[in-house]
Order: sequence, then C-alpha cells, then structure tokens
Amino acid sequence: MKKTYSFDYQQYQELSDVSEKYQDLITSARELTNTSYSPYSNFAVSCSVLLDSGEIINGTNQENAAYPVGFCAEQSALLSVISQGKLSQVQAIAISYASVAGATIPISPCGKCRQFLLEVETRLGHKFPIFMTGQSGMINQVEGVSNLLPLAFNIESLDK
Ligand code: THU
Repeated sequence: MKKTYSFDYQQYQELSDVSEKYQDLITSARELTNTSYSPYSNFAVSCSVLLDSGEIINGTNQENAAYPVGFCAEQSALLSVISQGKLSQVQAIAISYASVAGATIPISPCGKCRQFLLEVETRLGHKFPIFMTGQSGMINQVEGVSNLLPLAFNIESLDK
C-alpha cells in the first residue's frame, strides 16, 4: 500500500512579513554568525532561541580539526538553554548562516539537529515555530519537528 506523507511550511519573502513577535529573534540569528568558529568549512551557522521571558539565547557552530567532534549552532544554542534550566521556556527558534558566497537561500537544519530538535520538542511537550533563513531575504517557518523529520525515530513508540 502506498502511503503519502506531506508537511506544511510557511514562506515569507522578507522579515517585515513575519509576525513582529519573532522579528528580533530572526535578526538576532542573522547577526550572530560572528561568534561562529568555522575555519574548516568557512560556513558560519547561528541559532537563536526565544524564551517566554523575552530573553533570546544564542549559539553558533563550533568546529574541530577532527570534523565529527564539532558542534552545530542548534546544539550550541539549545544546550545552553537546557543547561541554564530554561528548557520549559522555549517559545521559538531561528537558524541562519553566513558563507563566502553570501546567504539569501534559507538554511535547513542537518539530520542530526532535526533528531535533536525532536528531543527538545518531546521534553518541552509542545510544538514551537522554527524559522530558517540566511542573512537577508526569504524566511521559511515550520511549526513542529514532524514537519522536518517524517517517520522520526521514537524509541517510546517501538517494541522493546
Ligand atoms: N551546521 C550547523 O551548525 N547546523 C546545521 O543544521 C547544518 C550544519 C554546521 C556544521 C559545520 O560546522 C558547518 O555547518 C558546515 O557543515
């Protein structure tokens, strides 16, 4: 039997099209790339997390000469939030990047980060908006990790 999976996302042409509530979050992600340590890929990624309090916590990718040892921006930002005991306050996240070629095409999180985001969503107990963009121009938004990671690995739903 053939089954079809579809997902929803919202696409905005520019920042002013996004709800004002999230504009500072996206701007923060766009500005943050200067703390990225990415001498190996020359590809700076940033992630900003909006908390219920209005605070925005940032993270960038931190690379390592042994490539798999590096950390993605989403991990840096969310591990900081979680380590500060603020996981329950996560309201939305924004991901951006800068590269030598410029950055107008919206980024999409890597596979490892999608699984990591799913764990955050599960622990939080509800979906949150994820904004994906570059330094300017178009912004994509998904609501909930199921729109990024179909047929996700979920150990609780399996036979053990
Ligand atoms: N990277 C992230 O930080 N997040 C992603 O979702 C995609 C990839 C980083 C990892 C590496 O430092 C660089 O981008 C190039 O792959």
